[in-house]
Amino acid sequence: MNTVRTIRIFDTTLRDGEQAPGFSMNQAEKLEVARALDALGVDVIEAGFAIASPGDFDSIQQIARAVRRPIIASLSRAVERDIDTSWEAVRGAERPRIHVFIATSPIHMQYKLKMKPDEVIERAVAMVRYAKRKCPDIEFSAEDASRSDPAFLCRIFSEVIDAGATTINVPDTVGYAMPSEFGELIRTIRAGTPNIDAAVVSAHCHNDLGFALANSLAAIEAGADQVECTMNGIGERAGNTALEEIVMTMRTRAAYLNAACGAELRCGVDSSKIYATSRLVSSVTGARVQPNKAIVGDNAFAHESGIHQHGVLSNRETYEIMTPESIGLPRNKMVLGKHSGRHAFDERLKELGFQLDQGRAELVFEAFKTLADKKKIVTNRDLEALARDAVPSAPAAWQLERFIINSGTTIAATSAISLVSADGEKREQVAIGDGPIDACFNAIDGIVGAKPLLEDFSVDSVTDGKDAQGEARVRIRLSEQTFNGRGVSTDVVEASVRAYIDAINDAIEDGAIVPRPVAGAEQERSTQCQ
Ligand code: KIV
Ligand code: ZN
Repeated sequence: MNTVRTIRIFDTTLRDGEQAPGFSMNQAEKLEVARALDALGVDVIEAGFAIASPGDFDSIQQIARAVRRPIIASLSRAVERDIDTSWEAVRGAERPRIHVFIATSPIHMQYKLKMKPDEVIERAVAMVRYAKRKCPDIEFSAEDASRSDPAFLCRIFSEVIDAGATTINVPDTVGYAMPSEFGELIRTIRAGTPNIDAAVVSAHCHNDLGFALANSLAAIEAGADQVECTMNGIGERAGNTALEEIVMTMRTRAAYLNAACGAELRCGVDSSKIYATSRLVSSVTGARVQPNKAIVGDNAFAHESGIHQHGVLSNRETYEIMTPESIGLPRNKMVLGKHSGRHAFDERLKELGFQLDQGRAELVFEAFKTLADKKKIVTNRDLEALARDAVPSAPAAWQLERFIINSGTTIAATSAISLVSADGEKREQVAIGDGPIDACFNAIDGIVGAKPLLEDFSVDSVTDGKDAQGEARVRIRLSEQTFNGRGVSTDVVEASVRAYIDAINDAIEDGAIVPRPVAGAEQERSTQCQ
């Protein structure tokens, strides 16, 4: 087989993934994810939807300037203002791309756009031409393509390619297509668009019926050379095609796919970085990966039943179609304890995919030693939790100094919290609440002068056992914006308090909470109850 086909991996974790409720990230987190995607080897990073908010614009611009290897794309509706904003956001990239979309299905054209099909084609062509004057790399998406008339798709694709589109994307926007049907649609487009060879054909699939991966594979078999996906499959509603699933299928079933495609398929992703990237995305979004999730779920490589364990011990291939190492999941489950040295600790962090600067590694090591004093056994999961929790380089607006709670079945829960600001100001507050955690959150609200809506709150144990660390996650809402926070401690109230402060700090950094000025000595030791 001589023909080689490169399948481009277009990652939209930071756009389609991030725009879904519950997956928001702040700018520093988006940059961290973009760097991880770069290291993973994706071809395109869709860094956001520049017109959506000034925050989105800034983070795309920051990623475009900092992440130099992959193409950096920004999404735009087919309107000049969106395209101008996208261009301003990505123009600093080594390889910028403007991604223009307009809906092409009868239902979207009639009820959403209120445009006739000819007007849609006219707008698409005009906007692709407009974008092309700014940027050589233009992707055009026909939103809701799978519910569009295939002949209409061929017409619009042919005209936008003439206008300068270099990639044409076929989205199954509502996750409606069946795999054979979607493959057929790609074939029809390839056969019915006369200038198709001047563009890369791309597939963008959603998972509403659980077919996102199957549809993406059907698209590849039918000739698509780009697939759009997200880490952990996050995205609108049921999510997008999961990057880890498409990459590991291409690797594990290479012989089958190569035969089906009559070509050797290649992709530039380094699969050994999948596990670390998946953990990073889960950690910054606060969205846990379901335990039975293909490839990256906790149970994906776990063999519980005796028969399976016996089989795997005799020959791994009895029940393992891919190795944990191939996704970078450390087999090394050897536990660390308080006598473990710095070298073993540094090595394990590297195996887990963390590349921490010296200051942060030092902090994690300190936290590890403290934890090892409380817990006999420190597992990989514990280390990951500590490494994620290490304070970022910029000093946080507020840090926990101490807290006291008083709670029980016959008294109202009360808390006293003391926080220290980045410039050393100390503030204390006492509050009551509906339980100790509520009392703590109320006291923090009093200190920072805000009353966010608590949208989501969970505490999970990082490992088994009574001495396990608790990992708390909160999501707060202030008007239209949501902020995530995370905290880890063997004391679940402390973990919750830390998570809440983390989210508050995010909101302050984003300008959603305006820091209150120091008003005098009374405020420093305010003790009013709420
Ligand atoms: O699902 C979709 O149609 C999209 C497009 C904007 C590409 O996300
Ligand atoms: Zn989408």
